[in-house]
Amino acid sequence: MKNRKIREILKRKNKKPIVCLTAYSKTIAEILDKYCDIVLVGDSLGMVLYGMESTREVTLDMIINHAKSVKKGISKSILVVDMPYQTYKNKKEAYKNAKKIIKLTKCDALKLEGGKKIINVIKYLIKKNIHVMGHVGLLPQSERGKFKFKGRSSVERKRIIEDARLLSNAGVFAIVIECVEESLAKIISKSIPIPTIGIGASKHCDGQILVTDDLVGLSNFTPKFIKRYSNIKKIINKSVLRFRHDVINKKFPSRRNIY
Ligand code: KIV
Repeated sequence: MKNRKIREILKRKNKKPIVCLTAYSKTIAEILDKYCDIVLVGDSLGMVLYGMESTREVTLDMIINHAKSVKKGISKSILVVDMPYQTYKNKKEAYKNAKKIIKLTKCDALKLEGGKKIINVIKYLIKKNIHVMGHVGLLPQSERGKFKFKGRSSVERKRIIEDARLLSNAGVFAIVIECVEESLAKIISKSIPIPTIGIGASKHCDGQILVTDDLVGLSNFTPKFIKRYSNIKKIINKSVLRFRHDVINKKFPSRRNIY
């Protein structure tokens, strides 16, 4: 049985595009909640916030703590939390960890990376009434080395299409398609009845997601699929420089900053 917010998202297939972004804290979540349909606590936080080499080092406790913070800033959007690497190795472990994340964070849904390989786990979670978002194409948790776009060979294309179909048939409410060649994203989006959310996957998807830190210029990550809407780093730099100047020149604190 799908909840109201999830049913609304399902109705957006081929209609008004779905707006999604990542958040790792309450402060950012409060801003995103006004404009986004879905806010994702992505395991990208491992690389973006913690400077880890890959998302594989993210633990269950880390994602839970960040999701608890994000939940405090969310009132209307759907809150989705990534299940970290190795937390859904089999049905039982996946269910135990999924229940823990949902209980502690009060999120609406969980996202798992992969298709055919984890389809039994996904079916099991859905049978247990957990809302699941799929993720196909480039799968950061499985990737070794540099991230490269997917869909070059016909074997790879067939596999990704099959993954998306299996996930859709299993009952996921939406699928993130990451870094795939444009025509592949189009084929997938046209061939399944649920919304697709693209990241580096063209405008043929039913919605788009980006990592917020990339969008506002807080990260150093600059692949082609990112559009920078602001340069927050520059603004922080200027503010810190002015603070430093004020401290050194005894201009801060001034009369109005003291008790
Ligand atoms: O971890 C993440 O932030 C994600 C998005 C990039 C889709 O999975």
